[in-house]
Amino acid sequence: MANKSLASLQTKHLLINGEWVETEEYTELRSPYSDEVIAHIAKATKTEADQAIEAALQTRKVMAKMPAYQRAEILENLVSLLQERSEEAAEIIALEAAKPIATARGEVIRTIETYKFAAEEAKRIHGETLPLDAARGGVNRLAYTVREPLGVIGAITPFNFPMNLVAHKVGPAIATGNTIVLKPAAQTPLSSYFIAELLLEAGLPAGAINVITGDGREVGDQIVTDNRVKMITFTGSPAVGIGIKSRAGLKRVTLELGSNAAVIIDSGVDLDKVVSRCVSGAFSNQGQVCISLQRAYVHENLYDEFVSKIVKETKKLVIGDPLHEETDVSALISSKDVERTLSWIEEAKRQGAKVATGGEAQGNILLPTILTEAEPNQKVSCNEVFAPILVVDKVKSVDEAIEKVNDSRFGLQAGIYTNDISTALYAADELYVGGVMINDIPTFRVDNMPYGGVKESGNGREGLKYAVEEMTEMKLVVWNRN
Ligand code: SIN
Repeated sequence: MANKSLASLQTKHLLINGEWVETEEYTELRSPYSDEVIAHIAKATKTEADQAIEAALQTRKVMAKMPAYQRAEILENLVSLLQERSEEAAEIIALEAAKPIATARGEVIRTIETYKFAAEEAKRIHGETLPLDAARGGVNRLAYTVREPLGVIGAITPFNFPMNLVAHKVGPAIATGNTIVLKPAAQTPLSSYFIAELLLEAGLPAGAINVITGDGREVGDQIVTDNRVKMITFTGSPAVGIGIKSRAGLKRVTLELGSNAAVIIDSGVDLDKVVSRCVSGAFSNQGQVCISLQRAYVHENLYDEFVSKIVKETKKLVIGDPLHEETDVSALISSKDVERTLSWIEEAKRQGAKVATGGEAQGNILLPTILTEAEPNQKVSCNEVFAPILVVDKVKSVDEAIEKVNDSRFGLQAGIYTNDISTALYAADELYVGGVMINDIPTFRVDNMPYGGVKESGNGREGLKYAVEEMTEMKLVVWNRN
């Protein structure tokens, strides 16, 4: 708990136009694990949100004219600063998000990589030349495209990866010469303030990043509906994402929403390899991951063995304080989420599901839970649980499993374990999701790969190269030589 006292001294003001701006009201930020107050966070009003947007608007030309090597240098400086302060960064994440410290360190390593990729991408943003003479009317013209920044980008980020999912928005926005108004999750603002401080130190011009915190709806709505903002990049719940899209007007909107991600386990695979990955996919970060493994469809030949092995492995997980080195699973982000998930488990039990392990809470910690015999229409199966709950189901064939995976409102990522290459490629064709992981869990992600979903899992793609496309506008130039 070395940093608890340090963090408890913190009062965080808004960052507007390079200044730390005091507000009239501050709210207490509490540890999801201990419920102790860990900081006081500024609550922005609509006026301050307006000022943040205006600061980003006034800085857009500075960023748009900044050469690529300078944008890359700022991101490289950030990488160095973050490397120097990586342990502090991990402690902030562990404290505010109750992410076990070892997992929080992993998030910091990924965040560093994400900003490195962003620095690299800044140097390779380009268009193409076009053979307009392929059309009769296009003869004797030189044509090329360039990619230009959009201007002000509104970034609304979630609590579950408070540093790396911010990096997936801030990194490509800087790489492309845009400016940012960032509204981090109310539960985890400290990570964003930490990164914003480092960015100013790294040489980012005042006004290029503005951080506003406060009442989610009021401030978020202001960003979403303001015409000076040209793009919204949002990660969070489907309900909020769909609301954003309907109110954003002509803005570009990318939505990275949730899922009830699934894995298929075909007959004949070596379960010893599969089980430990499934434990990590289902319970890492308390299952609060958009691609957390929530449904496992296991071939009937392996079903009993799989259930008994995964229950045994799950019982070995260490439950406790996120700041303790050995902790694997800690608190959910709020007591409301504990109540919600317990009621979903109760519903499933009432309707015949069996609890193979877990199924209850200790304080704000929901014990890693494995359910069998749950029905597809029960909330634990068809909603996004965002908690350490895994539903295991028996299937007769890969075809049946594919049908069950696709029978979902969501479609972010899916996994299939099989020894048969044709089965793997067949599943890759048939699964209706943004990404298929062969011989891995759906929870696999590294930060340069395209990441995003179909159906209610959202639209657009993150992963630096792909975010650069989303955050730039293509402009065509045609020179008439006739
Ligand atoms: C998410 O929850 O969408 C992010 C998952 C990850 O970056 O690993």
